[in-house]
Amino acid sequence: MDDLARVERLTDLADLLRPAAIRAAATLGVADHIAAGVHDAEELARLCKTRTEVLDSLLRYLVSLELLGRNEDGGYELRDTAGPLLTGHPSSLREALRLDGVTGRADMALVGLVHTIRTGEPAHVGLFGRGYWESLNEDSAYVEAIERASLGQLVFDAEIVSDAYDWSTVGSVVDVGGNTGAILTSLLHGHPHLKGTLVDLRSVTCVAAKNIADAGLQDRCEVVAGSFFDPLPAGRDVYLLSAILGDWDDEQAVAILRRCAEAAGEAGKVLLADVNLDVVMKGDEAARMELLLRAMMPSPVRTVEQLKRLGREAGLRVTWEGPVTPVRSLIEFSA
Ligand SMILES: C[S@@+](CC[C@H](N)C(=O)[O-])C[C@H]1O[C@@H](n2cnc3c(N)ncnc32)[C@H](O)[C@@H]1O
Repeated sequence: MDDLARVERLTDLADLLRPAAIRAAATLGVADHIAAGVHDAEELARLCKTRTEVLDSLLRYLVSLELLGRNEDGGYELRDTAGPLLTGHPSSLREALRLDGVTGRADMALVGLVHTIRTGEPAHVGLFGRGYWESLNEDSAYVEAIERASLGQLVFDAEIVSDAYDWSTVGSVVDVGGNTGAILTSLLHGHPHLKGTLVDLRSVTCVAAKNIADAGLQDRCEVVAGSFFDPLPAGRDVYLLSAILGDWDDEQAVAILRRCAEAAGEAGKVLLADVNLDVVMKGDEAARMELLLRAMMPSPVRTVEQLKRLGREAGLRVTWEGPVTPVRSLIEFSA
């Protein structure tokens, strides 16, 4: 390889325009409009609410990437490769790629990766001055995006939490950081005697309340908008923390566990259902995933021992341990 070829290769590897252009197309819904029979740049610009000449540059660039082609009249048409950009495609990537979606917003922070490498903090904090969840929840423009994301949510994790723990003696559970209610609705459906409370930040709870009502569970479940760094609804039997602590450093994780412990009191339990990436993150092959996760969250990989130590620091002791799987490791703590 000569120097010119090396420069071309590195330039191509470092290129930011290609992902930005594809994500712009996903955000604007360009593929959906073309599939609906609109082929002309001017009409596409009107539908996408964009500047015609700049949209035309985007469309011509997508032609060069072989995502779009030209018909006999010079109009734009979709190539098979662009199929997953369609909203209704069976393997649609549109929701994941659009910049006004919850994953698109998280991915944008990757351009600030150097902040994470320097400080260990999530890239989002360096780039936008505050954490991802906080900014997502404070911007009401994202409520719709949170709702769209909640429709595609997998309940696989919910089954593990629901099946691996003995809920028969539990009367009430608080899903702390329960997101849009996928796990709590599954728990309440699976265990009809249970009553639930979901605590999360404001925008997420708007969607959770709707999902819980749609599931017909509003009589057995309340939704509380608030932070788990503040006092939690007290006196319930179990405080579930599912896939929460990875987003926080040790000091913050202990603060969250303390809030759960204080609300649970002497009689209640704190049930940690953490994602156990320690089992899968091994060797050089894991580096890509590690970097991605580290850019998003400060502590993606904690061992069961480290989690137990955090619990002890929050004044809790382990009273039960469930199976350790890459999906979840369950640990029950009591005061
Ligand atoms: C990784 S998600 C986990 C969601 C869910 N528990 C699960 O297992 O799928 C983290 C959740 O924590 C919530 N969250 C972040 N900061 C919070 C805070 N300060 N107080 C309450 N919830 C918060 C987010 O809105 C999000 O729903």
